[in-house]
Amino acid sequence: MTSLSAGYGALTVLRDVSLKVGDGEAVALVGANGAGKTTLVRTVCGLLRARGGRIVKNGSDITATPAHDLAQHGLAVVLENRRLFGELSVRENLILAETVGRKARGADMRFSWDEVTALFPVVKERMASPVELLSGGQQQMVAIARALLLQPDLLIMDEPSTGLAPKVVKDILLVIKALRERGMGLLLIEQNVGIASEITDRAYVMSVGSIVHEIGPGEWQSFLTDERLVRAYLG
Ligand SMILES: Nc1ncnc2c1ncn2[C@@H]1O[C@H](COP(=O)(O)OP(=O)(O)OP(=O)(O)O)[C@@H](O)[C@H]1O
Ligand SMILES: [Mg+2]
Repeated sequence: MTSLSAGYGALTVLRDVSLKVGDGEAVALVGANGAGKTTLVRTVCGLLRARGGRIVKNGSDITATPAHDLAQHGLAVVLENRRLFGELSVRENLILAETVGRKARGADMRFSWDEVTALFPVVKERMASPVELLSGGQQQMVAIARALLLQPDLLIMDEPSTGLAPKVVKDILLVIKALRERGMGLLLIEQNVGIASEITDRAYVMSVGSIVHEIGPGEWQSFLTDERLVRAYLG
């Protein structure tokens, strides 16, 4: 995306934000509470209108693309609040996504039903349950499984580990690593820089709606050990 700006009413949140995720690359976006990370995700997935700038995916301008058309462009998003259909069963939630994914990719599916459910054994056991009866961690897994069935080559995840038990976080990280090995592109929004550094190659640091620092490939360690930098950008 280039020079993206967005906001709510009179409030401008994103100011001139430019960032890039290459094919199969894993990039993090980190920043303190209220920095504008979720606003960026909402703008990318068409839930919030961009006030300026452009979002381009594989050469197509997707700036004003509504959320339900993003799968056509190989993009899937796991939102902060997951946005599952709580009253529907796990299976029904996944079937809805699979249908959209099939429409986007035809016979050329990147992830089969069996592959996706095999990644999340817990989800498989709860197929018939209404999603709202699942734990937070199980719901997060359903949300990721659903995103994969949309057949993306780029997955955007807004703080997938926040509020979950350490064991669940570990399971989710393993899945993300497996996806990376399959060549999935990843934009990971994460406040926990320890987690971000474990699964991404490089990162952008956002503060008050702007990118204020870039952590290049191989620079995670030096960033994390520079207390002054960490405190300045992440509080
Ligand atoms: N729906 C909204 N209406 C008005 N202002 C909003 C709305 N959502 C967010 N904001 C404001 O936009 C700014 C950025 O919020 P945003 O949720 O993007 O931050 P964030 O980086 O995702 O924070 P967190 O790490 O807490 O999730 C904040 O000042 C917030 O108060
Ligand atoms: Mg947020």
